[in-house]
Amino acid sequence: MGENQNSQYIIEVKNLTKSFGSKVVLDNISLNIEKGKTTVIIGPSGCGKTVFVKHFIVLLRPSSGEVYFKGSRIDDLPEKQISGIRTHFGFLFQAGALFDSLSVAENILFPVRQDYGISENSGADELVKSKLAMVGLDGFQDYFPAKLSGGQRKRVALARAIALNPEVILYDEPTTGLDPIRADVINELILKLRRGLGVTSIVVTHDMTSAYKIADRIVMLHNGKIVADGDAEKIRNHPHPTVQQFINGQVSEDDLAVLRMGGTVFETQYLPDDFKD
Ligand SMILES: Nc1ncnc2c1ncn2[C@@H]1O[C@H](COP(=O)(O)OP(=O)(O)OP(=O)(O)O)[C@@H](O)[C@H]1O
Ligand SMILES: [Mg+2]
Repeated sequence: MGENQNSQYIIEVKNLTKSFGSKVVLDNISLNIEKGKTTVIIGPSGCGKTVFVKHFIVLLRPSSGEVYFKGSRIDDLPEKQISGIRTHFGFLFQAGALFDSLSVAENILFPVRQDYGISENSGADELVKSKLAMVGLDGFQDYFPAKLSGGQRKRVALARAIALNPEVILYDEPTTGLDPIRADVINELILKLRRGLGVTSIVVTHDMTSAYKIADRIVMLHNGKIVADGDAEKIRNHPHPTVQQFINGQVSEDDLAVLRMGGTVFETQYLPDDFKD
Protein backbone atom coordinates (compact mmCIF):
# COMPACT_ATOMS: atom_id res chain seq x y z
CA MET A 1 0.00 0.00 0.00
CA GLY A 2 1.50 3.32 -1.03
CA GLU A 3 0.89 5.51 1.97
CA ASN A 4 0.30 9.15 1.43
CA GLN A 5 1.98 10.65 4.49
CA ASN A 6 0.70 14.09 3.59
CA SER A 7 -2.85 13.18 4.39
CA GLN A 8 -3.80 14.69 7.73
CA TYR A 9 -6.72 12.29 8.00
CA ILE A 10 -6.42 8.68 9.01
CA ILE A 11 -9.74 7.82 7.38
CA GLU A 12 -11.47 9.65 4.56
CA VAL A 13 -14.90 8.78 3.26
CA LYS A 14 -15.85 10.41 -0.01
CA ASN A 15 -19.41 10.47 -1.34
CA LEU A 16 -20.29 7.12 0.14
CA THR A 17 -23.63 5.68 -0.89
CA LYS A 18 -24.69 2.25 0.29
CA SER A 19 -27.89 0.58 -0.83
CA PHE A 20 -29.31 -2.84 -0.10
CA GLY A 21 -31.64 -3.61 -2.97
CA SER A 22 -33.72 -0.49 -3.48
CA LYS A 23 -33.13 0.71 0.10
CA VAL A 24 -30.61 3.53 0.32
CA VAL A 25 -29.04 3.32 3.78
CA LEU A 26 -26.19 5.81 3.35
CA ASP A 27 -26.78 8.64 0.94
CA ASN A 28 -23.67 10.35 -0.43
CA ILE A 29 -21.85 10.77 2.88
CA SER A 30 -18.42 12.38 3.16
CA LEU A 31 -16.45 12.41 6.40
CA ASN A 32 -12.79 12.87 7.30
CA ILE A 33 -11.47 11.47 10.54
CA GLU A 34 -8.47 13.02 12.23
CA LYS A 35 -5.74 10.87 13.65
CA GLY A 36 -5.64 10.57 17.43
CA LYS A 37 -9.14 11.89 17.97
CA THR A 38 -12.27 10.19 19.27
CA THR A 39 -15.21 10.48 16.90
CA VAL A 40 -18.59 9.36 18.19
CA ILE A 41 -21.35 8.39 15.77
CA ILE A 42 -24.92 8.65 17.00
CA GLY A 43 -28.32 8.26 15.39
CA PRO A 44 -31.56 6.34 15.62
CA SER A 45 -31.63 2.57 15.55
CA GLY A 46 -31.49 1.31 11.99
CA CYS A 47 -30.13 4.56 10.53
CA GLY A 48 -26.97 2.90 9.23
CA LYS A 49 -24.30 3.47 11.88
CA THR A 50 -23.03 -0.10 11.81
CA VAL A 51 -23.20 -0.21 8.03
CA PHE A 52 -21.22 3.04 7.92
CA VAL A 53 -18.34 1.97 10.15
CA LYS A 54 -18.09 -1.44 8.47
CA HIS A 55 -16.93 0.44 5.38
CA PHE A 56 -13.89 1.73 7.31
CA ILE A 57 -12.44 -1.78 7.32
CA VAL A 58 -14.12 -2.86 4.10
CA LEU A 59 -16.40 -5.39 5.75
CA LEU A 60 -18.86 -3.77 3.36
CA ARG A 61 -18.08 -2.13 0.04
CA PRO A 62 -19.73 1.07 -1.17
CA SER A 63 -22.45 1.06 -3.79
CA SER A 64 -20.65 4.21 -4.87
CA GLY A 65 -18.02 6.46 -3.37
CA GLU A 66 -14.59 5.84 -1.87
CA VAL A 67 -12.88 5.06 1.42
CA TYR A 68 -9.24 5.94 2.18
CA PHE A 69 -6.95 4.82 4.99
CA LYS A 70 -3.92 7.06 5.51
CA GLY A 71 -4.39 8.57 2.10
CA SER A 72 -4.65 5.32 0.17
CA ARG A 73 -7.84 4.05 -1.30
CA ILE A 74 -8.96 0.79 0.32
CA ASP A 75 -12.56 0.13 -0.71
CA ASP A 76 -11.51 -1.34 -4.06
CA LEU A 77 -8.67 -3.54 -2.81
CA PRO A 78 -8.83 -7.31 -3.13
CA GLU A 79 -9.73 -9.15 0.09
CA LYS A 80 -6.15 -10.38 0.47
CA GLN A 81 -4.77 -6.85 0.83
CA ILE A 82 -7.62 -5.78 3.07
CA SER A 83 -6.58 -8.24 5.78
CA GLY A 84 -3.29 -6.35 5.91
CA ILE A 85 -5.12 -3.05 6.37
CA ARG A 86 -7.27 -4.56 9.12
CA THR A 87 -4.22 -5.31 11.27
CA HIS A 88 -4.06 -1.53 11.94
CA PHE A 89 -7.56 -1.72 13.40
CA GLY A 90 -9.13 -3.16 16.49
CA PHE A 91 -12.82 -3.71 16.30
CA LEU A 92 -15.52 -4.45 18.74
CA PHE A 93 -18.76 -5.16 16.97
CA GLN A 94 -22.25 -5.28 18.37
CA ALA A 95 -22.43 -9.02 17.87
CA GLY A 96 -18.79 -9.29 18.97
CA ALA A 97 -19.10 -12.93 19.82
CA LEU A 98 -16.31 -14.69 21.64
CA PHE A 99 -15.36 -18.20 20.65
CA ASP A 100 -17.21 -20.34 23.17
CA SER A 101 -14.78 -23.23 22.89
CA LEU A 102 -11.78 -21.03 23.68
CA SER A 103 -10.77 -19.68 27.08
CA VAL A 104 -10.64 -15.95 27.73
CA ALA A 105 -6.86 -16.01 27.19
CA GLU A 106 -7.16 -17.89 23.89
CA ASN A 107 -9.87 -15.52 22.73
CA ILE A 108 -7.60 -12.53 23.38
CA LEU A 109 -4.66 -14.19 21.65
CA PHE A 110 -6.70 -15.19 18.63
CA PRO A 111 -5.91 -12.09 16.49
CA VAL A 112 -2.29 -12.17 17.62
CA ARG A 113 -1.85 -15.76 16.50
CA GLN A 114 -3.65 -14.97 13.24
CA ASP A 115 -1.31 -12.13 12.41
CA TYR A 116 2.02 -13.04 13.90
CA GLY A 117 1.69 -16.71 14.68
CA ILE A 118 3.05 -15.88 18.14
CA SER A 119 4.34 -18.99 19.86
CA GLU A 120 3.01 -20.27 23.16
CA ASN A 121 5.62 -18.65 25.39
CA SER A 122 6.79 -15.49 23.67
CA GLY A 123 5.10 -13.00 25.93
CA ALA A 124 1.61 -14.37 25.37
CA ASP A 125 0.81 -14.65 29.09
CA GLU A 126 2.02 -11.13 29.73
CA LEU A 127 0.03 -9.78 26.81
CA VAL A 128 -3.17 -11.44 28.02
CA LYS A 129 -2.56 -10.23 31.56
CA SER A 130 -1.97 -6.63 30.54
CA LYS A 131 -5.00 -6.48 28.23
CA LEU A 132 -7.25 -8.06 30.87
CA ALA A 133 -5.96 -5.61 33.45
CA MET A 134 -6.89 -2.75 31.11
CA VAL A 135 -10.52 -3.91 31.01
CA GLY A 136 -10.58 -4.74 34.73
CA LEU A 137 -10.71 -8.51 34.33
CA ASP A 138 -7.31 -9.68 35.45
CA GLY A 139 -7.53 -13.23 36.73
CA PHE A 140 -10.17 -14.34 34.22
CA GLN A 141 -7.62 -15.88 31.82
CA ASP A 142 -8.84 -19.47 32.16
CA TYR A 143 -12.57 -18.79 32.22
CA PHE A 144 -14.73 -19.89 29.32
CA PRO A 145 -17.22 -17.40 27.85
CA ALA A 146 -20.24 -19.40 29.08
CA LYS A 147 -19.23 -18.56 32.67
CA LEU A 148 -19.09 -14.79 32.08
CA SER A 149 -21.81 -12.17 32.35
CA GLY A 150 -22.78 -10.17 29.25
CA GLY A 151 -20.74 -7.21 30.40
CA GLN A 152 -17.70 -9.35 31.15
CA ARG A 153 -17.91 -10.91 27.69
CA LYS A 154 -18.02 -7.46 26.18
CA ARG A 155 -14.90 -6.49 28.07
CA VAL A 156 -13.08 -9.63 26.95
CA ALA A 157 -14.04 -8.76 23.37
CA LEU A 158 -12.57 -5.32 23.99
CA ALA A 159 -9.36 -6.84 25.38
CA ARG A 160 -9.19 -8.88 22.18
CA ALA A 161 -9.77 -5.75 20.07
CA ILE A 162 -6.74 -4.04 21.63
CA ALA A 163 -4.52 -7.14 21.58
CA LEU A 164 -2.56 -5.98 18.54
CA ASN A 165 -2.11 -2.40 19.82
CA PRO A 166 -4.14 -1.04 16.93
CA GLU A 167 -3.84 2.51 15.61
CA VAL A 168 -7.58 2.79 15.14
CA ILE A 169 -10.30 1.17 17.22
CA LEU A 170 -13.89 0.85 16.05
CA TYR A 171 -16.36 0.35 18.84
CA ASP A 172 -19.95 -0.47 17.98
CA GLU A 173 -22.05 0.18 21.09
CA PRO A 174 -19.29 -0.63 23.59
CA THR A 175 -21.34 0.35 26.65
CA THR A 176 -24.70 -1.16 25.69
CA GLY A 177 -25.79 -3.73 28.27
CA LEU A 178 -23.27 -2.57 30.86
CA ASP A 179 -24.20 -1.05 34.19
CA PRO A 180 -23.23 2.64 34.56
CA ILE A 181 -20.02 1.87 36.45
CA ARG A 182 -18.84 -0.73 33.91
CA ALA A 183 -19.85 1.60 31.10
CA ASP A 184 -17.66 4.26 32.64
CA VAL A 185 -14.76 1.81 32.82
CA ILE A 186 -15.04 1.54 29.02
CA ASN A 187 -15.22 5.33 28.70
CA GLU A 188 -12.09 5.73 30.79
CA LEU A 189 -10.34 3.07 28.76
CA ILE A 190 -11.15 4.86 25.50
CA LEU A 191 -9.81 8.11 27.00
CA LYS A 192 -6.71 6.34 28.30
CA LEU A 193 -5.92 4.76 24.93
CA ARG A 194 -6.20 8.14 23.27
CA ARG A 195 -4.09 10.00 25.84
CA GLY A 196 -1.45 7.37 26.31
CA LEU A 197 -1.05 5.84 22.87
CA GLY A 198 -2.64 8.40 20.57
CA VAL A 199 -5.16 5.82 19.40
CA THR A 200 -7.84 7.02 17.01
CA SER A 201 -11.24 5.85 18.20
CA ILE A 202 -14.52 5.68 16.35
CA VAL A 203 -17.39 4.90 18.65
CA VAL A 204 -20.97 4.13 17.69
CA THR A 205 -23.23 4.66 20.66
CA HIS A 206 -26.72 5.52 21.89
CA ASP A 207 -25.27 6.41 25.26
CA MET A 208 -25.12 10.21 25.34
CA THR A 209 -23.38 10.25 28.74
CA SER A 210 -20.60 8.26 27.16
CA ALA A 211 -20.64 10.36 23.98
CA TYR A 212 -20.25 13.64 25.86
CA LYS A 213 -17.48 12.25 28.02
CA ILE A 214 -15.27 10.75 25.34
CA ALA A 215 -15.97 12.61 22.11
CA ASP A 216 -13.73 15.14 20.46
CA ARG A 217 -16.41 15.18 17.82
CA ILE A 218 -19.95 13.84 17.54
CA VAL A 219 -21.50 13.01 14.19
CA MET A 220 -25.22 12.27 13.95
CA LEU A 221 -26.67 10.18 11.12
CA HIS A 222 -30.30 10.40 10.15
CA ASN A 223 -32.08 9.29 7.00
CA GLY A 224 -28.81 8.38 5.31
CA LYS A 225 -27.16 11.75 5.87
CA ILE A 226 -24.94 13.45 8.41
CA VAL A 227 -27.29 15.90 10.09
CA ALA A 228 -25.08 17.21 12.87
CA ASP A 229 -21.31 17.34 13.29
CA GLY A 230 -19.36 19.06 16.03
CA ASP A 231 -18.01 18.91 19.55
CA ALA A 232 -20.19 17.95 22.52
CA GLU A 233 -21.10 21.57 23.17
CA LYS A 234 -22.26 22.13 19.62
CA ILE A 235 -24.37 18.96 19.60
CA ARG A 236 -25.92 19.77 22.99
CA ASN A 237 -27.01 23.13 21.67
CA HIS A 238 -27.89 22.00 18.16
CA PRO A 239 -30.95 23.92 16.99
CA HIS A 240 -32.64 21.12 15.08
CA PRO A 241 -35.53 19.42 16.93
CA THR A 242 -34.57 15.96 15.59
CA VAL A 243 -31.11 16.29 17.14
CA GLN A 244 -32.59 17.55 20.42
CA GLN A 245 -35.18 14.75 20.48
CA PHE A 246 -32.49 12.17 19.89
CA ILE A 247 -30.01 13.41 22.47
CA ASN A 248 -32.75 13.89 25.04
CA GLY A 249 -34.38 10.56 24.27
CA GLN A 250 -37.72 12.08 23.39
CA VAL A 251 -40.21 10.80 20.89
CA SER A 252 -41.52 13.54 18.61
CA GLU A 253 -45.11 14.81 18.94
CA ASP A 254 -45.90 13.55 15.44
CA ASP A 255 -44.62 10.06 16.23
CA LEU A 256 -46.53 10.05 19.53
CA ALA A 257 -49.73 10.90 17.73
CA VAL A 258 -49.19 7.98 15.35
CA LEU A 259 -48.42 5.61 18.24
CA ARG A 260 -51.55 6.70 20.09
CA MET A 261 -53.57 5.78 17.03
CA GLY A 262 -51.96 2.34 17.04
CA GLY A 263 -49.92 3.01 13.92
CA THR A 264 -46.30 2.31 13.08
CA VAL A 265 -43.77 5.06 13.44
CA PHE A 266 -41.48 5.45 10.51
CA GLU A 267 -38.53 7.75 10.60
CA THR A 268 -39.77 11.24 9.92
CA GLN A 269 -38.49 12.55 6.63
CA TYR A 270 -36.70 15.86 6.84
CA LEU A 271 -35.21 17.78 4.00
CA PRO A 272 -31.43 18.23 4.29
CA ASP A 273 -32.03 21.99 4.52
CA ASP A 274 -33.68 21.45 7.89
CA PHE A 275 -30.29 20.65 9.31
CA LYS A 276 -28.26 23.61 8.10
CA ASP A 277 -26.58 25.28 11.02
N1 LIG B 1 -26.30 -7.00 4.97
C1 LIG B 1 -27.43 -6.30 4.89
N2 LIG B 1 -28.35 -6.57 3.94
C2 LIG B 1 -29.48 -5.85 3.86
N3 LIG B 1 -29.79 -4.83 4.67
C3 LIG B 1 -28.93 -4.52 5.62
C4 LIG B 1 -27.69 -5.23 5.79
N4 LIG B 1 -27.03 -4.69 6.83
C5 LIG B 1 -27.81 -3.69 7.29
N5 LIG B 1 -28.93 -3.58 6.57
C6 LIG B 1 -29.99 -2.57 6.76
O1 LIG B 1 -29.37 -1.30 6.79
C7 LIG B 1 -30.03 -0.46 7.74
C8 LIG B 1 -29.01 0.11 8.71
O2 LIG B 1 -28.57 -0.94 9.54
P1 LIG B 1 -27.47 -0.71 10.67
O3 LIG B 1 -27.21 -2.02 11.28
O4 LIG B 1 -26.32 0.02 10.10
O5 LIG B 1 -28.25 0.25 11.67
P2 LIG B 1 -27.71 0.90 13.02
O6 LIG B 1 -27.79 2.38 12.86
O7 LIG B 1 -26.39 0.31 13.37
O8 LIG B 1 -28.83 0.44 14.06
P3 LIG B 1 -28.70 0.01 15.62
O9 LIG B 1 -28.56 1.30 16.39
O10 LIG B 1 -30.00 -0.66 15.89
O11 LIG B 1 -27.53 -0.90 15.73
C9 LIG B 1 -31.12 -1.31 8.38
O12 LIG B 1 -32.33 -1.01 7.75
C10 LIG B 1 -30.68 -2.71 8.10
O13 LIG B 1 -31.79 -3.56 8.00
MG1 LIG C 1 -25.73 -0.92 14.81
